[in-house]
Amino acid sequence: MRLPLGYPELLATLLTLLGLIPESLTSWEEWWTYDGISGPGFWGLINPQWGLCSKGRRQSPVDIQPDKLLYDPRLRPLHVDKHKISGSLFNTGQSLVLRVDQDSKHHVNISGGPLDYRYQLVEGYIHYGTHDGHGSEHRVNGYSFPAEIQLYGFNAELYHNMSEAQHKSQGIVAISLMLQIGDRPNPELRVITSSFGQVGFRGQSAPIRHLSVRALLPDTDHYMTYEGSTTHPGCWETTVWILLNKPIYITKQELYALRKLMQGSPETPKAPLGNNARPLQSLNHRTVRTNIDFFREKDKNCPTMYKDHYYQATWGEENRLQGRNFADTSR
Ligand SMILES: *[C@@H]1O[C@H](CO)[C@@H](O)[C@H](O)[C@H]1NC(C)=O
Ligand SMILES: *[C@@H]1O[C@H](CO)[C@@H](O)[C@H](O)[C@H]1NC(C)=O
Repeated sequence: MRLPLGYPELLATLLTLLGLIPESLTSWEEWWTYDGISGPGFWGLINPQWGLCSKGRRQSPVDIQPDKLLYDPRLRPLHVDKHKISGSLFNTGQSLVLRVDQDSKHHVNISGGPLDYRYQLVEGYIHYGTHDGHGSEHRVNGYSFPAEIQLYGFNAELYHNMSEAQHKSQGIVAISLMLQIGDRPNPELRVITSSFGQVGFRGQSAPIRHLSVRALLPDTDHYMTYEGSTTHPGCWETTVWILLNKPIYITKQELYALRKLMQGSPETPKAPLGNNARPLQSLNHRTVRTNIDFFREKDKNCPTMYKDHYYQATWGEENRLQGRNFADTSR
């Protein structure tokens, strides 16, 4: 469908006149949502610069199918600096976003893994559902986790900042952490979850101090990687995704506090902030690679380079309760 020129501007003006969006919010950056006429199906239409959201063929999130993963022996361990950072947690009305202070001399570097450059951590997004059955954007074998934290960095060797890098080749890295409900929560996650009470409404923020992003990561060297996009507008297809092969844990109480956050202001709270997941995008002809050598365990004498060999795994209820990897070497 071709829309007449000026359609987004007209629509915004109309909605403002109707009082559906406050005048102060008419900037495109701010009034996209996860449902209705400004939801994911329309992101590519409401702002001409976000065309990839509707036309892109290398979009995220995707469903990771363990039996289609390709083992790549050239994938190295991922490196994330372990020192502590400061920043702020911000309720944008669309998501809960962790913004890492960029003025400090010691940036958190992300390198290794599938990356050919050094990336600098900039922000983290928390996606979650209002019920346990869904929440994460990426899925594993169709399974949706209660929440997903996405850590975004930009290529600091080639570019100056995220806004420049997002348009450019090899511009962005995104690390995905799946969150599962458990009694032994990730201690570092507490640094973030203890601030949920201060970011109940749109525009509110809370300082975050002494957070080690590395300590937040699950205890595994294994990951899956593919080339995709940011899962928020403008859906930039310059993103290398790295999905860690184990969840971290969040308590029911922390999740409950998260679900109390709202999309609107204290005067007009609107709907809960949760369910901020973009629908799954088609993988098309992309390959999802992994550094899990699923044959070595079976037969240590075999060479490790296999072509056209995949491994099978399932991620179901039984694994969920045992804290197993998403993808396992057992067949
Ligand atoms: C990140 O990399 C830059 C450039 O190599 C370096 O100056 C900085 O110290 C690194 N950060 C840490 C915490 O090692
Ligand atoms: C990002 O870097 C570019 C190029 O140096 C610069 O023009 C732009 O103002 C920067 N943007 C922000 C938000 O700092």
